[in-house]
Amino acid sequence: MHIFKKASDIKQFIHNLKAAGHSLGFVPTMGALHEGHLQLIRRAMSENDEVIVSIFVNPTQFDEASDFSHYPRSTAADILLLESIRCPILFLPGEEEIYPDEALRRRKFDFGYLEKTMEGAHRPGHFQGVAQVVSRLLDIIPADRLYLGQKDYQQVKIIHRLVHDILNLPLEIVVCPTAREVDGLAISSRNVRLSKEERQAATALYKTLDWARKAGSRMTPEALKNQAVEMLMQVPEIREIAYFEIVNADTLSPVSSWVDSSRIIACLAVRIGEVRLIDNMFLKGIH
Ligand code: PAJ
Repeated sequence: MHIFKKASDIKQFIHNLKAAGHSLGFVPTMGALHEGHLQLIRRAMSENDEVIVSIFVNPTQFDEASDFSHYPRSTAADILLLESIRCPILFLPGEEEIYPDEALRRRKFDFGYLEKTMEGAHRPGHFQGVAQVVSRLLDIIPADRLYLGQKDYQQVKIIHRLVHDILNLPLEIVVCPTAREVDGLAISSRNVRLSKEERQAATALYKTLDWARKAGSRMTPEALKNQAVEMLMQVPEIREIAYFEIVNADTLSPVSSWVDSSRIIACLAVRIGEVRLIDNMFLKGIH
């Protein structure tokens, strides 16, 4: 596997492979790689001549300093995993490569309502940070296809707006389904921080979403939301339900009726112990 640490080196490498007519897929990550990331990378490898995975724990997208300092970092194990699936190229930049000057980490974007709700409302500045790093990464890596996970559905919407409406890049965004453990828990780098009891309790997220998907049109979205919140509140390890929203999958505005939109998704965030977990599921239509 080629490993690049400098933006100028990987830019030159990409210049050469583009000149040779190769298509390029890009999978941005923050490392602590798991099966969810690997599914994105395998898909990218099956659809492009070359694939770049980046690992960079972006400080500007963490609204809590302790979340940034506790974020798992396992570069050596990540490299072994990437080599085991024959990933061709890794970009492993330091902070000075991504933010060589202050202006880049202060860049502001207007996402309107998309960043005012759910994760945006609970994590001030989070999506500005995501947009800062993704715009910088795409500047260094002008890929043909960008691979993102449905697990972070609001992030997908934000990056879509960034790429197509703000930066106007000719880039296809490929959204991959959420990879789950056998009991349904969405795989996340944060899951390793759950105790045994908390890990067991965390299955309530998927169970509640799956119940909501099946119960769906038997009741109004509001009644469904209330019952789902009730179900989550029964679990003592769930310390806080940040939100459970049933929204139009394109605009992220809450729906009051099932005919409001052809695509409706339920999104939730809870805190179990010290760990914040998010998940989502389409209740109507698909991605
Ligand atoms: P990270 O959390 O490392 O996730 C990298 C990519 O993997 C994201 O597109 C995310 O949605 C996807 N992913 C994570 N868990 C997944 C799962 N269980 N199933 C499917 N896909 C999954 O998201 C970020 O990093 C950062 O915000 C980033 C976009 C890299 C910008 O810093």
